[in-house]
Amino acid sequence: MLDDVEKVLLNPEQLSEIVKNLGKKISEDYKDKNLLMISILKGSVVFMSDLMRHITIPCQIDFMSVSSYRGGVKSSGVVKILKDLDIPLEGFDLLIVEDILDSGQTLSYITKILKPRRPRSIKICTLLDKPMARKSSIQADYVGTNIPDEFVIGYGLDYKEEYRNLPFVGVLKPSLYS
Ligand code: IMP
Ligand code: MG
Repeated sequence: MLDDVEKVLLNPEQLSEIVKNLGKKISEDYKDKNLLMISILKGSVVFMSDLMRHITIPCQIDFMSVSSYRGGVKSSGVVKILKDLDIPLEGFDLLIVEDILDSGQTLSYITKILKPRRPRSIKICTLLDKPMARKSSIQADYVGTNIPDEFVIGYGLDYKEEYRNLPFVGVLKPSLYS
């Protein structure tokens, strides 16, 4: 598995610092709100489970699963709901927790379908942002860090469902998919 990594972009210490700072900021911003953190499966589970332990105010969590990738390295543009939320959203301040904002198609689709469910507010928190790859106008309200337009794996992020368990974020060797 480690042989497939071209380079490490974010090591566990850097990730932990990023997540801690995001948790602090979110806890301050949402202290008078009704926070519901929505983790987009499966990529954001590692980030979510670390981030929620840095939230110091009351909050609830829920999960949603969508697919847009179909196992390749480029977004197909077609987003499908595989698992919907369990909780009705009225009265909640939603924070969508994503692993990575790439073309933006997944998150624009998710915010579009959640708005009519009348949450009090919707914001986006992404661990990684690839601004160079954006195809839709969406922006995150909380960004862990920007990264170059390279395909990354680890800390929840996969290539063909593997590598999610790596404790760091690394660049996948392009020879493995090109
Ligand atoms: P978007 O719709 O193009 O913004 O894609 C978002 C989704 O694509 C993310 O939730 C990831 O699952 C996946 N994705 C985008 N870039 C990468 C990457 O570099 N590595 C692994 N997954 C990625
Ligand atoms: Mg994902």
